[in-house]
Amino acid sequence: MRTEQPKVIHLKDYQAPDYLIDETTLTFELHEDHTLVHAQLVMRRNPERADGSLPALVLDGQQLELLALSMDDRELGTADYQLTDSHLTLQPVSDSFTLDSTVRIHPESNTALEGLYKSGSMFCTQCEAEGFRKITYYLDRPDVMSRFTTTVSAEQHRYPVLLSNGNPVASGAEEGGRHWATWEDPFKKPAYLFALVAGDLWCVEDVFTTMSQREVTLRIYVEPENIDKVQHAMDSLKKSMRWDEEVYGREYDLDIFMIVAVNDFNMGAMENKGLNIFNSSCVLARAETATDAAHQRVEAVVAHEYFHNWSGNRVTCRDWFQLSLKEGFTVFRDAEFSADMNSRTVKRIEDVAFLRTNQFAEDAGPMAHPVRPDSFIEISNFYTLTVYEKGSEVVRMIHTLLGAEGFRKGTDLYFERHDGQAVTCDDFVKAMEDANGVDLTQFKRWYSQAGTPRLAVEEAFDATARTYSLTFRQSCPATPGQAEKLPFVIPVELGLLDAAGNDLPLRLAGEGEALGGNRVISVTEAEQTFTFVDIAEKPLPSLLRGLSAPVKLSFPYGRDQLMFLMQHDSDGFNRWDAGQQLSVQVLQELIGQHQRGEALVLDTRLLDAFRSLLEDESLDQAMVAEMLSLPSEAYLTEISEVADVDAIHAAREFARRSISDALFPQLLARYQANRALSRETPYVASAEHFARRTLQNIALSYLMLSGKAEVLQACLEQFEACDNMTERLTALSVLVNSGFEDEKARALASFADHFKDNPLVMDQWFSVQAGSTLPGGLERVQALMGHKAFTLKNPNKVRALIGAFANQNLVNFHRADGAGYRFLADHVITLNALNPQIASRQLAPLTRWRKYDEARQTLMRAELERILASGELSSDVYEVVSKSLA
Ligand code: TRP
Ligand code: ZN
Repeated sequence: MRTEQPKVIHLKDYQAPDYLIDETTLTFELHEDHTLVHAQLVMRRNPERADGSLPALVLDGQQLELLALSMDDRELGTADYQLTDSHLTLQPVSDSFTLDSTVRIHPESNTALEGLYKSGSMFCTQCEAEGFRKITYYLDRPDVMSRFTTTVSAEQHRYPVLLSNGNPVASGAEEGGRHWATWEDPFKKPAYLFALVAGDLWCVEDVFTTMSQREVTLRIYVEPENIDKVQHAMDSLKKSMRWDEEVYGREYDLDIFMIVAVNDFNMGAMENKGLNIFNSSCVLARAETATDAAHQRVEAVVAHEYFHNWSGNRVTCRDWFQLSLKEGFTVFRDAEFSADMNSRTVKRIEDVAFLRTNQFAEDAGPMAHPVRPDSFIEISNFYTLTVYEKGSEVVRMIHTLLGAEGFRKGTDLYFERHDGQAVTCDDFVKAMEDANGVDLTQFKRWYSQAGTPRLAVEEAFDATARTYSLTFRQSCPATPGQAEKLPFVIPVELGLLDAAGNDLPLRLAGEGEALGGNRVISVTEAEQTFTFVDIAEKPLPSLLRGLSAPVKLSFPYGRDQLMFLMQHDSDGFNRWDAGQQLSVQVLQELIGQHQRGEALVLDTRLLDAFRSLLEDESLDQAMVAEMLSLPSEAYLTEISEVADVDAIHAAREFARRSISDALFPQLLARYQANRALSRETPYVASAEHFARRTLQNIALSYLMLSGKAEVLQACLEQFEACDNMTERLTALSVLVNSGFEDEKARALASFADHFKDNPLVMDQWFSVQAGSTLPGGLERVQALMGHKAFTLKNPNKVRALIGAFANQNLVNFHRADGAGYRFLADHVITLNALNPQIASRQLAPLTRWRKYDEARQTLMRAELERILASGELSSDVYEVVSKSLA
């Protein structure tokens, strides 16, 4: 907890460290009621800073009980150092020295899940960003890179497996039933990449032969009952290793690569050198217990963490302001990997829908910050959608501007130039510039300016001159601390469709010849016009294909034009996007009708568009499924000036029921055909099968709105007879959202009974209920908090129940009396004391108070005030609450 006023850390104050740590030798003695950590640090004055003086050595350390301290074998007493609750300060007497410390820590009571802690009966660590300081006194900053040797000792029968980074070099037995193991990591690394695991674990082992024919042992460690759920992660790992060799020329560097699955984890996973630690939700997957989405998430997260070995570990961050250097780049890498392994267009659609709904909202809220923030109070609060997802979009734009080959030249130079270093986002961009002979100075505003730019486009056609002009106007709203913004470089991928829907050859005024029908232009000015020549008839523009920049584009499309694009655009992503824009227009019309108290009347063109999608058997099923999905309530909220939660819900539900009524036969045909295939074919985790099941399940969710007995029967058949979690969970979810009370209760009970011993499946069970928008949602969630499988101490449970309720069940969370807000604030206050990182993340929905009507604003702010006044706040919660109220 915070004892002093929280300090704001600024990027502009960065200074290189005064001292370096060349060698770090750690010994952990693990016991049930405490752990002893001995650290030997071989240190020297940083030559970069050497000016003849010997400044004080200030080590980070929190919640440590110092038992012994010596410098160059001279024991130090309390007069030799100063100790506060965050630092240990002492005075070196020479340029280089060895510091030995012994501390006692308490992993067994660590509920923050940062530093060394226990997940169930296993010991594990989470050191990023600043958790290592809860393990020992250290220079806990990423620009201090050291060689680590780690010895772990523990009771043999409880902890037969003892792991740390690098290679195992020695092990043995001790007195009293204990044993030990020593690990050596030959690569210098910052402390945030340190890891230790001790437990009763089983592993699946495999071998990967690298491009230079080295054999690497691969091991995935899990608790014994999960050993049957590891194969998918292992397959994903091998694919990732091959892909990184093929696409980036990056080879793995140690002889062993390990993944450990733990149940209690604050985030998805962690890329510790040679010893990745994963939330079990991102490792375990098999047909019976994990959905298609979960299988894809495992594949993506395994890849993400593996890719960090180069983008993050071999080349790391100089300071935490540079977090996107590794995270934005690595998200881009894992997104491209997933696109290559599955359907590229579907992956892009999913990512963009997520970005627009969630990152755009963050960028418009009180916590908005640049991809490279200028300041923070608590770095854990900056593992954000902006740093990760927008950061990935920024790297994607560089890729778009330079082309695949130029981009690869840039990454080759980056890895070669900076291997073994801790660097900045500027260094990354510099490598791109140097490898390609380009100037990205203006482009770099994407790193420093927050907010989502608007891009308004106007057209002008001149039939006699045969020219077609597009005028782009960019602007960017003010964000905290940034009133004025300078123009961005916005790559706009576009095409111009003729009356038959074909891409016209594109030749800009002044160019000798047309350069294809799809091209990228760069908008760099606040206002800029591009004129295309040789255009005989007025075309229909397809703009920002694939979302070539993270901006909000507006062009005054009519609904018939959007339907035309839906059918003809050569870019699959933009076909989907045209459908989304059409849906948004239709839904916003319904929202207006609801607000004026009028009868809701749906524009039947939406039904026509959906009918032709369903009837066209030649279309990719995954695309049909994506296009049949209406924009979410959260997205409709994000694009509203003032979000009317009830009107949004009513309008969207009305549209869903209208689709169900009007297209019942078509939906049923698609459902039955795909369910029959599911019945005949055993589960396969591949793009084609994901597509088929997604369409089947979206059809079922529409059909169920009819309330017809034949659909209920089909749903129950699917629930009971299917062989996989994707079909079972969808069936459960549509039942839960239906009015069939008896069937619902029976299905929920039988599901819980069957899966009571599988925590990840129980998370799904909680989520499905937390997301049900039927009246009484808050009461149902409150009742579920008392369920024996629920605990606030497990982040997955908190996310499954509280998080799903506050983020996905908008009508119930925002109920007019404010009870949803009070509920969330109560739990944030409890979580603040248990696990600050989780508490602060759960707060996000309350920070969006400016989006709602005055009455709700008042209620939401009152809860934020109540949290602020609730007592000692962690820096995590304090930063988010205070910035939200500012
Ligand atoms: N570096 C991790 C990633 O791959 C992020 C992470 C894992 C993390 N656990 C954390 C960040 C705990 C902060 C706190 O994205
Ligand atoms: Zn990452």
